[in-house]
Amino acid sequence: MTASPRFKGSDSSPPGARPFLKWAGGKTQLLHAIEPRLPPGLADGTITRYVEPFVGSGAVFFFLNRRFPLKECYLYDINEELVILYQVVKRDVAGLIDHATALAGEYAGASETERNDLFYRVRERFNRARAAIDPADYEDAWVERAAQLLFLNKTCFNGLFRVNSRGEFNVPFGKYKNPAICNGAALEAASKALANAEVRLGDSAACAEVVDEGTFVYFDPPYRPLNATSSFTSYAKNGFSDADQTRLAELFASLDRRGAKLMLSNSDPCNHDPCDRFFDDLYGAWTIERVPARRSINCRGDRRGTVAELIIRNYD
Ligand SMILES: C[S@@+](CC[C@H](N)C(=O)[O-])C[C@H]1O[C@@H](n2cnc3c(N)ncnc32)[C@H](O)[C@@H]1O
Repeated sequence: MTASPRFKGSDSSPPGARPFLKWAGGKTQLLHAIEPRLPPGLADGTITRYVEPFVGSGAVFFFLNRRFPLKECYLYDINEELVILYQVVKRDVAGLIDHATALAGEYAGASETERNDLFYRVRERFNRARAAIDPADYEDAWVERAAQLLFLNKTCFNGLFRVNSRGEFNVPFGKYKNPAICNGAALEAASKALANAEVRLGDSAACAEVVDEGTFVYFDPPYRPLNATSSFTSYAKNGFSDADQTRLAELFASLDRRGAKLMLSNSDPCNHDPCDRFFDDLYGAWTIERVPARRSINCRGDRRGTVAELIIRNYD
């Protein structure tokens, strides 16, 4: 897919680490709108702690880390495999690159049919090993698993992460000709960027443990589906319901009372139903803006395009 000229170069920040995964809802396309709305404390050094409760591929974390001298970052996600991969990137990037390079080499040297077979073999191995993995306890076996996730992410259909009711990764093969499966330099840069970050497995609510008045929090929860058939929210076994969105608004209110600077983005339900004021009602006490954004992952190519995104802040 080609980027529309409007958004080209929207990320003009200094060189450095960037997301190493394709991720549904990844925010690289929204950085042009996020940047001018960041709290001034990031630039003047009064904010040194950054918290991201729904980190995904970390587009905003990597951007802020390139731009500002953040002292400590706390990144959360409920997706076990994603957090395992982050921990491995941080702790054993060389081992990860070794394993991923081997998989990438196998893919590059294979015919179309062999690539298809390789994909399903890796997926099968990944799913079979799952029962033996404890996502709370780092071990060497994580390194191979992390490389498998990287491989699956770059070679599966649209870079989606979806699991079935048994928790098995079930996205089909993506048939890409030249996927960039392992970019060693990019992974090494990400590993360095993660030196000041802790990546924690957990529900977004857990972030309350590290938020104080000198903290900036960026919330990017799963999209509220644009329509009944939209399946963007299948990142994990459990989706993110309207009740979860309401629970999150309560967390936003409680962290606001602590004096933290808060930003939250979500899809704008008014894109499809101008009468749907769900987020306007939930976040009515704060600044709500509608900005143009491009959807980069959609199961249906014809549903990609420019839509409005909401950016909500508790500061000017
Ligand atoms: C819209 S994506 C975030 C994308 C991210 N900003 C990026 O640039 O890639 C939402 C993320 O929230 C995670 N998630 C879903 N439910 C969650 C929960 N209850 N607590 C924490 N993370 C959750 C998903 O696994 C997914 O990675």
